[in-house]
Amino acid sequence: MTIAICDLRERPEFAGAVGDRIWRAWWEPQGVPLSYIVGRIETEDLAEGAIPFALVAHEGDTFAGTASVIVDDLEERPQYTPWIAAVWVDPQFRSRGIGGELVNRAAAGAFAAGFQRVYLNALKRRTSFYEGLGWTRIEEDVGKAAVSVFIRDVPVR
Ligand SMILES: CC(C)(COP(=O)(O)OP(=O)(O)OC[C@H]1O[C@@H](n2cnc3c(N)ncnc32)[C@H](O)[C@@H]1OP(=O)(O)O)[C@@H](O)C(=O)NCCC(=O)NCCS
Repeated sequence: MTIAICDLRERPEFAGAVGDRIWRAWWEPQGVPLSYIVGRIETEDLAEGAIPFALVAHEGDTFAGTASVIVDDLEERPQYTPWIAAVWVDPQFRSRGIGGELVNRAAAGAFAAGFQRVYLNALKRRTSFYEGLGWTRIEEDVGKAAVSVFIRDVPVR
């Protein structure tokens, strides 16, 4: 079976899996309840409107990965928007290009919504993944987590 990537609105039954992975990776350590994260995904990512949105990669009915495009992601840089965030691929699906494809598709979705530039931030140990995808680093050591900020601009036609 092949991997498909779609907007979560097309396969809303994956909202629980998306919430579970995002929660475990980024929110559980901060004591945020899983129900809060799933609730936000269901109300925000499944609502009408271009942004926010979440993508889901799946093999049939099996969840494989996710990425989101959101309005704000870095408290210290409120002037930047939108952001690609919460990029996750389940371990058994890694190193097959799915993470890269999720990031590329998320950026394409933001460009299709009319944005000229899209941002993301990453910890230093993760920056090689985005550099490999052709993202440009514009800042380093931002904020409490000392993240790097990357941009990608809409392709010139
Ligand atoms: C990062 C992640 C999404 C990559 O997904 P993936 O489907 O394996 O990505 P791709 O197959 O498109 O690319 C893999 C390549 O990216 C690089 N890469 C993968 N994970 C990386 C990481 N954590 N840090 C730096 N580079 C990474 C490697 O060069 C890898 O190549 P290899 O498989 O030949 O070693 C996945 O490892 C993951 O979910 N990690 C945990 C969550 C996470 O770190 N998310 C990013 C938050 S900033």
